[in-house]
Amino acid sequence: MGKMVTNTLFGNVYANKKVLITGHTGFKGSWLTAWLLRMGAQVYGISKDVPTQPSLFEVLGLQQRITHYTADVRNAETVQKIIHEVRPNFVFHLAAQPIVLESYKNPADTIATNVMGTTNVLEALRVLNLQCTAIVITSDKCYDNVEWLWGYKETDALGGKDVYSGSKGAAELVCKCYYHSFFSKPTSQVRIATARAGNVIGGGDWAINRIVPDCMRAWSEGRIVEIRSPQATRPWQHVLEPLSGYLLLGQALHANAALNGENFNLGPKTERSYTVQTILQDLSQCWHFANPQSAYKIIGDVAFHEAGLLKLNCDKALLALNWTATLDYKTLIDFTGDWYYQFYNPKQDMFACTMKQIETYEELAKQQQQQWIQNA
Ligand SMILES: NC(=O)c1ccc[n+]([C@@H]2O[C@H](COP(=O)([O-])OP(=O)(O)OC[C@H]3O[C@@H](n4cnc5c(N)ncnc54)[C@H](O)[C@@H]3O)[C@@H](O)[C@H]2O)c1
Repeated sequence: MGKMVTNTLFGNVYANKKVLITGHTGFKGSWLTAWLLRMGAQVYGISKDVPTQPSLFEVLGLQQRITHYTADVRNAETVQKIIHEVRPNFVFHLAAQPIVLESYKNPADTIATNVMGTTNVLEALRVLNLQCTAIVITSDKCYDNVEWLWGYKETDALGGKDVYSGSKGAAELVCKCYYHSFFSKPTSQVRIATARAGNVIGGGDWAINRIVPDCMRAWSEGRIVEIRSPQATRPWQHVLEPLSGYLLLGQALHANAALNGENFNLGPKTERSYTVQTILQDLSQCWHFANPQSAYKIIGDVAFHEAGLLKLNCDKALLALNWTATLDYKTLIDFTGDWYYQFYNPKQDMFACTMKQIETYEELAKQQQQQWIQNA
């Protein structure tokens, strides 16, 4: 019989630790919760609601597996009360109003959630001043988009013309001044870093107005998807990619005070951007359409203005953390398409399926000798 090989994930730093996730009921937050549970962490979550119906949070039955708080990060007092009750070893702050379109409709709410919400979390940590490693999730949109072709570096100017992007730039500035004023001081027990990643896809996202969820909803109902900008491209990446970066950053920051106050871009592996049409064509293969023409219909060919597309330079994550993304394009498509296909045809044990995908992701990362996974 062969020897059982076990893996050490993220130096085992999360096992039996109290990890607080804000926005744990969301798309990224639910995947992060599932992964941390797999690593034996005690997960605590703060979210104001379950943002979609269905939701990955409910499909995985996560509420029963963690300590769940329904609370609004705009409420400083409540945030402080919960954080002081939990006394977390790690915090991953993801709670946000994350939709650009929504930020045009409700600008003040977006700013309150994304800027003051971040302030309230940091303020609670400052007052508590217990040993804690906090990773604040902002966005690639935090940069002032000057519409050049090159990748943005962590030292480039922050900005953002729409309110969502501006609020993420502002959240970065809040972190920066909290670091310089408080967390950099010798008396502080708190360490923080921010992570800037772009659009993600993967199973279990049901947000409105995102191309992959829109498409999966349509296919599950036997509807054909209409696409207006087939040639538009995005730097597609699987949700587990930035999560592996957040978790590695948490591990590294916990071990190394020199990373305190730093910011990291986390972007996809591939240099190539794929078009919407290519993505849909490839995803449709996972759904086994007898006739691929019945998957989508092109109803326009808007000459797509690539402005707004912003590329990240991820050299710093490679050099300082030894982090890169893991999945190639084909695996990204398979992971995403298979997850939804299993959910809809017929419904399976999605907790097991999700854990299986995480396990496969870990195995692929190990083959590539990623820093965060090693033989025990
Ligand atoms: N999904 C992406 O492609 C993407 C890209 C870049 C950055 N991000 C960032 O990653 C984070 C997570 O994004 P997501 O796609 O999982 O979003 P999501 O909409 O799926 O989840 C958002 C979460 O935040 C919570 N939330 C919202 N407002 C809140 C409030 N006022 N108080 C408490 N909780 C609140 C929701 O309940 C939910 O749990 C966000 O900070 C987002 O800006 C996401």
